[in-house]
Amino acid sequence: MNRDDAKRQVQQSTDIVRLIGEQVALRPKGKEFAGLCPFHEDSNPSMYVSPAKQIYKCFACGAGGDVFSFVMDYHKMSFVEALKYLADRAGIELPRHRSDAPAEPSDSPTSRDAMRKASEAALKYFRRELADEMHGAIARDYLQRRGISDEMIEAFAIGYAPDGWENLTEAVKKGGGDLRTYEAVGLTGSRNDGSGFDKFRHRLIFPIFDAIGRPIAFGGRKLREEDEPKYLNSAEHALFNKSATLFGLHLAKKPIIDSRTAVIVEGYTDVIAAHQAGFANVVATLGTALTRQHAIELRRYCDRVLLVFDADEAGQKAADRALEVFFSEPIDVAIAVLPEGLDPADLLANDDGPQRWRDAMDGATDAMAFHFARVRRAFEAIDTTSGKQRIATDYLRTLVQLGLRQLEPTRKGMVLHQVAQLLRLDLATVDRMLRDLAGVASAARRQVEAPAPPVEQPATRHRVEQLLIGCLLNRPDLFHAQMPDGRPLDESILPDDLQHGATANVYSLVHEWLSQHGQFDAFDLRSMIADETLLRHALDLKLEAERLHGDATDAIERGLHAAAEQFATIQARERYETEKHESPEDDDIDARLLQLREHVKTHKDMSRLPRMSN
Ligand code: UTP
Ligand code: MN
Repeated sequence: MNRDDAKRQVQQSTDIVRLIGEQVALRPKGKEFAGLCPFHEDSNPSMYVSPAKQIYKCFACGAGGDVFSFVMDYHKMSFVEALKYLADRAGIELPRHRSDAPAEPSDSPTSRDAMRKASEAALKYFRRELADEMHGAIARDYLQRRGISDEMIEAFAIGYAPDGWENLTEAVKKGGGDLRTYEAVGLTGSRNDGSGFDKFRHRLIFPIFDAIGRPIAFGGRKLREEDEPKYLNSAEHALFNKSATLFGLHLAKKPIIDSRTAVIVEGYTDVIAAHQAGFANVVATLGTALTRQHAIELRRYCDRVLLVFDADEAGQKAADRALEVFFSEPIDVAIAVLPEGLDPADLLANDDGPQRWRDAMDGATDAMAFHFARVRRAFEAIDTTSGKQRIATDYLRTLVQLGLRQLEPTRKGMVLHQVAQLLRLDLATVDRMLRDLAGVASAARRQVEAPAPPVEQPATRHRVEQLLIGCLLNRPDLFHAQMPDGRPLDESILPDDLQHGATANVYSLVHEWLSQHGQFDAFDLRSMIADETLLRHALDLKLEAERLHGDATDAIERGLHAAAEQFATIQARERYETEKHESPEDDDIDARLLQLREHVKTHKDMSRLPRMSN
């Protein structure tokens, strides 16, 4: 079987609806399936998956392709990795090639590839040690005492790091591994004399997997009372971003998609206990509060996040943070508090645990309401009008800081309604208070962020180039339109004028395409920009411009004009500087530079910019 056959066979054995369905909640729509596009910040399902054609396509950002491109884009894999991954899933053995093996930079001991392999090898090692009759006895005992079933030990690939300083280290050396790789993933350290030592010693090991089930880090629980800390976690590294990772996600993903809810608990053992009790849509953050990155990840799978806390102070703080997440990502956040300050594992260990768990989930409160309840208590506790007034203003200020003004209209309306009720004010009053506050806040922000004129800030060139091209990608129809300097964009800015590599490359392809075809739509992007990395950059530029200006077409147009004007100013300044450098005695040049500065400050019309002398 040659490589092309293998590719074809893998493609035929992979159902694109299932493949994508594991990552994105898909709903049938006619003969196709639709879901939130994972390649841009999608709020309406704009990605379509066609079972007949075995392709997917996003109508908003233009992403699209077959099973291979999906895996490459979604999991950030090379083609070869994607082929291997899909072949594995389909149980197809790939032919071994020497000649066309990709020149992966995997000869470096700290390449991602090497780090993956080391993590996998360590995982196997820890599991073997747990199973070892002698070495693993204490850890197995502990698991049994905690009631963790063999099935869960298997599913979560729980392991054991034996007691002593050089167990893993020796095993790596014996196996011909490179300790530098193990150090890069935080499993070993090195002493001054260059010798290595184990970081995890006599600990129960909970491997941490990425969303597709590849081990990326480890959490080690102490087994001796006197050891510290209770949990030792891998430090962050190239494969492990702690605040974007959720423990158990690889197992919980499908149940989360199916139930449209992700339940978030605080501890490793809580996740395991929940799965063991049959609640499989449960994951844990890694000792942090829920972050926006978590929410972005989860939003691909579900529309509701349910945070579970035992009723302590830390839980209250985490609940505040949850509100922030609610304000920053369009996902519903609810909070469930467990009875008697029990953590999920404790609760589920009881006979009536599962029922009480279900009750707690059913009794979950919307994060906003949860927050309100606390403010209301403070509000009721005070009986002076001025005191109440202060609480009301403080509270509104907090909401504004959290981003109330950016909230989508329906959610904002809902929040304002609740605030009005809580504070016993009518909606118009709340609205006015809010406007006053917002006015003050944004004026303060303007003060702080008042941008220095671009003349003073050469670093903004990249930014301006990015926005310029980003806007153009949104509005290719403006390619021949007049810019503020009176010339059409296609003449006034040429690809060679741009300095930012990738952006310049995008512009040169766009320039060429538009010069030929005059127009393009989202579907043309892929034909126009064949290189995947460059295409991704182009999409980023496009989205960034949209994020900044909003998606109203005239807002983008104004953005394009502003960027073109700034760009012309920057170019003018650079030319002045060159001139000045060449003839430092020429005062006339200084005068023109000053004029230019003035111009930038007052944002005069571009046509009045002093013309170049050349
Ligand atoms: P807990 O102390 O509640 O642990 O910390 P737990 O998961 O319930 O563990 P058991 O049941 O006592 O064995 C909750 C989470 O906080 C992080 C871990 O992710 C843990 O699961 N943590 C806790 C640390 O990272 N380091 C620590 O020292 C303690
Ligand atoms: Mn616990």
